Amino acid sequence: MRQKIVAGNWKMNNNLEAGKKLAQEVLDKATGNEEAQIVLGTPFIHLTVLADSVAGKKGIEIAAQNCSDKASGAYTGETSAEMVKSTGTNYVIIGHSERREYFNETNAQLAAKVDLALAQELIPIFCCGESLEIREKEEHFSYVKQQLTESLFHLSSADFAKIVIAYEPIWAIGTGRTASSAQAQEMHAELRAHLASHFGQELADSCSILYGGSCKPSNAKEIFEGSDVDGGLIGGASLNANDFLAIVNSF
Ligand code: 13P
Repeated sequence: MRQKIVAGNWKMNNNLEAGKKLAQEVLDKATGNEEAQIVLGTPFIHLTVLADSVAGKKGIEIAAQNCSDKASGAYTGETSAEMVKSTGTNYVIIGHSERREYFNETNAQLAAKVDLALAQELIPIFCCGESLEIREKEEHFSYVKQQLTESLFHLSSADFAKIVIAYEPIWAIGTGRTASSAQAQEMHAELRAHLASHFGQELADSCSILYGGSCKPSNAKEIFEGSDVDGGLIGGASLNANDFLAIVNSF
């Protein structure tokens, strides 16, 4: 279902105490009546305790930042979708550009992760986005559409209906250089049309497409004004409860 979502991606920040403190601050300061669904994307070590602390609270959920592309077995250091779900977590970020770049995750592997997440009734926040080099070659639309095709187009309509998409241009992540609201809206509209060409207009219109990349309290409102922009995936600014909630309240 299309809804406004603002998800934080803490990345590899916050030890156990710091994470509990930050999540508690978000919980204390959130009213429960925010227009957007709040999601906190935390390292695995936080999932159990934070899923417990948001259980039964309206409008706030926890996400893992990754899950394995294997169901179980001898994969030292990996965490399966089933394990994530067993903590009480309901979302999982899949295919972040940092995982694609530093851990060589491919579109095919990400398709497997999406399947395993859906089988556990986790909601995937599926990330896509192009590098600066690809944008400068003006191949950004076809590149990002291909990411969606190769990782999501095998899904049934019923499964696709559960997916959240996050468009994160790599050149805007952690750089302070955000996409303009026009650039975000343009890509989101293109992606929605691509989804419609395969899954039909109704399902495409029901899909939440978030923007990520140097989103801050000062620019969130303008970015979220795009009619195809349904919220954000927030890195650096999600590490501060006031900044994060200011973004949540930017609609
Ligand atoms: P920044 O908001 O720090 O640019 O990070 C965006 C991001 O990668 C969220 O997943």
